[in-house]
Amino acid sequence: LLSSTTRLHSATAEETDKAGFAAPPKEINRRRNLAIISHPDSGKTTMTEKLLLYGGALQQAGAVRMKGEQRATQSDFMEMEKQRGISISSTVMSFEYNDLCVNILDTPGHQDFSEDTYRALAAADNAVMLLDAAKGLEPQTRKLFEVTRMRNLPLFTFVNKMDRPALDPSEIMDQIEQEFGLETYPIVWPIGDGERFKGVLDRMDNVVHLFGKGDRKSKAEVETVPMSDLETLKARIDDQELFDKLMEDIEILDELIAPLDMDRVIAGDQSPLFFGSAMTNFGVQLFLDKFCDMGVKPLGRLAKVVEEGKGKKGAQSKLDQDDEPNDLVNPDFGEFTGFVFKTQANLDPKHRDRLAYIRIVSGAFQKGMKVGHSRSKPGKKFNLAQAQTLFGSDRESVEVAYPGDVIGINNPGDFAIGDTLYTGNQKVAFPGIPSFSPEIFAYIRNPNPSSYKSFTKGIDQLLAEGAVQALRQRNDDGGGPLILAAVGQLQFEVVQARLKGEYNVDSDLEPIGYTLARWAEGGWDAVDKADADGKLFGIMIVQDRWGRPVLLFRNDWKATGVAEEEKYLELKPWSKPP
Ligand code: G4P
Repeated sequence: LLSSTTRLHSATAEETDKAGFAAPPKEINRRRNLAIISHPDSGKTTMTEKLLLYGGALQQAGAVRMKGEQRATQSDFMEMEKQRGISISSTVMSFEYNDLCVNILDTPGHQDFSEDTYRALAAADNAVMLLDAAKGLEPQTRKLFEVTRMRNLPLFTFVNKMDRPALDPSEIMDQIEQEFGLETYPIVWPIGDGERFKGVLDRMDNVVHLFGKGDRKSKAEVETVPMSDLETLKARIDDQELFDKLMEDIEILDELIAPLDMDRVIAGDQSPLFFGSAMTNFGVQLFLDKFCDMGVKPLGRLAKVVEEGKGKKGAQSKLDQDDEPNDLVNPDFGEFTGFVFKTQANLDPKHRDRLAYIRIVSGAFQKGMKVGHSRSKPGKKFNLAQAQTLFGSDRESVEVAYPGDVIGINNPGDFAIGDTLYTGNQKVAFPGIPSFSPEIFAYIRNPNPSSYKSFTKGIDQLLAEGAVQALRQRNDDGGGPLILAAVGQLQFEVVQARLKGEYNVDSDLEPIGYTLARWAEGGWDAVDKADADGKLFGIMIVQDRWGRPVLLFRNDWKATGVAEEEKYLELKPWSKPP
């Protein structure tokens, strides 16, 4: 990472109305940020719940997700989520633990919402990959792993459900190494599995934690035996075969496994490995303790920084997004900076408001602070009079917040995903968060002309949230029928359900049989030429919301063919926002 932080200076006295405040080092150092990635059903909800339980944020497990009548509002606040029992919206849950402030960025489990997970990962500094011990790597773990790799996030691995018949632990290590090229380092090592699950060896502290099937709801009392007391250990394991295997495994591990190297962990090249059973509370606290020790504190982010009003295109300019961001904004920088990684309308039906979630990168947030906005004209300030932390549907007003924290602020409609907010005289812009390439497409229409206004408002707000992407057929006056583009079918269903529930309008969807979108960065001239030459037969030509050409293909094979033969089109799976 390069840096030119010297270009960032703090405001002088006469600039105080614009000035930000540095965050106290203590506050930066005590923050730990974590996103959980997993394939559905591996136990993410259970794990989250147990982490909150140990963090004291919940008195009783089960509060995050309860069945039927009891279903709590904490994580499942949207009607759709309640009906389906799926978690769609990423929220952030914070708790204090051993003088640390832990922020868990919740991520939706269902693959159709992987784009939300992707955005949450943009705000995270650490990730844990949760695996089902019987299944190992699954499709969704693979997809999300790619994202953590792109971001070089430190990645912890937690193998869950050890109380059920499991794959051999070394087989799981092999899978991760073979498929991901990621070396694992077992921090703990399991003794048996399923009915014969006896506990785990903590290889750092040289003690065995014995598994006792606890009450599912409360914290487990764990009995530990030091490795120095083999007699007791043998008696407590009470299974000669497993005891012998443990002794054998210890030798093999010590001999074959490369030592733990924190530099490699931080770079995302070595993954600390844990085993446990979230449902029975086993191994969760051990994980939390080690994570607090080993996880990285909030990191700086590369951005593009220019003096206000002196961008390349003059005073009114947006930053030129094509220039590589190469100014490192560190958490201890004396101005507030943060970026929007998620926006949401009508979070609480009673309020009908819109929120933007900001991940703070540097400085201190203070209630009432005035900030600039990367896409607004220089000098325009927004007053952050109200900020909230969110815990599912519960909100709490925030007076101060620090790097690594996530706050929800009122969004008058100006803030979009990827935008930067900042104090000081320099305009700061963190790079945008790219969208997933859509794979399904449908026309959306309003069957009821009298509700034109609500329909348009609803669509606009849901598009601003990034609930789906939008494309239009091309026509002379800037766009024909609206086409929704998504990664998964449930995204369409959510849009329709929310249009009905929140804006009281019906909508008709008509699927279009294309499966792949490619942005033609060569521009309209290139597309028109290819079209005139008859090269785009069977391909649908549409435009994105910035009027840029996008080609829709029926299959991969066709897209690859066109990309290879018509190079001047410069086909890309997605394009950065302009
Ligand atoms: P997800 O968010 O990743 O989709 O997973 P979730 O926590 O909802 O867990 C999926 C199922 O796996 C749940 O069972 C949950 O109880 C179970 N589970 C989670 N962790 C463990 C574990 O360590 N051991 C075992 N044996 N099971 C585990 P369910 O039948 O869907 O719900 P429930 O009736 O148990 O609440």
